[in-house]
Amino acid sequence: MLDIENVHKTFHAGTAHEVRALQGLSVHIDEGSFTVVIGTNGSGKSTLLNAVAGTFFVDTGQVRIDGQDVTRWPECRRASLLGRVFQNPFSGTAPNLSIAENLALASRRGARRGLGPVISARLRRRMGEVVSQLKMGLEDRLDTPIGTLSGGQRQALTLLMATWQKPRLLLLDEHTAALDPKSAEQVVALSEQVISRDHLTTLMVTHSMQQAARLGDRLVMMHQGKVLLNLGGAQKKRVRPEELLARFEEVRRSDLLDESAAEMLARCYV
Ligand SMILES: Nc1ncnc2c1ncn2[C@@H]1O[C@H](COP(=O)(O)OP(=O)(O)OP(=O)(O)O)[C@@H](O)[C@H]1O
Ligand SMILES: [Mg+2]
Repeated sequence: MLDIENVHKTFHAGTAHEVRALQGLSVHIDEGSFTVVIGTNGSGKSTLLNAVAGTFFVDTGQVRIDGQDVTRWPECRRASLLGRVFQNPFSGTAPNLSIAENLALASRRGARRGLGPVISARLRRRMGEVVSQLKMGLEDRLDTPIGTLSGGQRQALTLLMATWQKPRLLLLDEHTAALDPKSAEQVVALSEQVISRDHLTTLMVTHSMQQAARLGDRLVMMHQGKVLLNLGGAQKKRVRPEELLARFEEVRRSDLLDESAAEMLARCYV
C-alpha cells in the first residue's frame, strides 16, 4: 500500500549544518497495517512521515501510495489521501473556529468550494453523535471555540477531523506525547478504535515502549535515517517493552563507540 524505496534526504547539504536525515530508507507497509515507528531523537521518524506527506521532496528514492508514484506530488495533492495528527495539540485545528466549524472543514476536505454558509442540520446531528463517542461532554459544546479546550480534548478532535473522511493513510507523529497520562490514554484508545473500525493503514510514531509493544501489527525501529528493525506477525506480537529498551541501549552504546572512534581518528589526524 505504501512503498518507500531507498529514500535519501539531506538538509542544508554542503554546509556546516548538513544533516543526513534519511539515508537509504526502505520500508513496505501493507494495506490495513497499523505500524508503530520508534527510534532515538533525530533518527528520522518525523522526516519519514514528512517525506510521505510531501512536506518536502526527497533527494533520491521513491514514495508510492497504492502503487502510484507520488514522489513528485506536491503536499496539497497528497493531502487528499492522508490524515495527520502532530504532537502539538495547537496544530491541526483552527483555534478561533468552533468545534462544529472545524469538523465542517474536515468534512469538506477535498471538496472544491470553500465552507458553505450554514452547517446542515444533518451534518450537525452527525457531529453530535460522533463527538459524544469521545465521552468528553463536547457534544453540548459544538459552538465553543476549539482554542478554549484542553490539549487532550483538542487532540481527540484533531483525530476525529483527520479521520472524518477515511484517509488512505493515517500519519500520527507522537500525537499523545504532550498530554497528561489520562488524556494520552483516552486519545490512544480513541486512535485504536477508529483505526480498527475503519481499517485505516496507519503509521504512528511514539517514544512510549509500552505503546510500541502493545499497539499495531508491525514495528519499525529507525536509526540514523534507516530502518534498523522491522517486526511483523508473531515477532511483533511477542515483543516486550524491556526488549525494545535493551535495543535502544545497544544503539546508544554503539553510537557512543562511533563517537569515541571518530574522536580518536580526529586526534590521530591533528
Ligand atoms: N526541516 C528541517 N531542516 C533542517 N533539519 C531538519 C529538518 N527536519 C529535520 N531535520 C533534522 O533531521 C534529523 C532527523 O529529524 P527528525 O525530526 O526526523 O527526527 P525524529 O526521529 O523525529 O526525532 P524526535 O524523536 O526528536 O522527534 C534531525 O537531526 C533534525 O534536526
Ligand atoms: Mg519527531
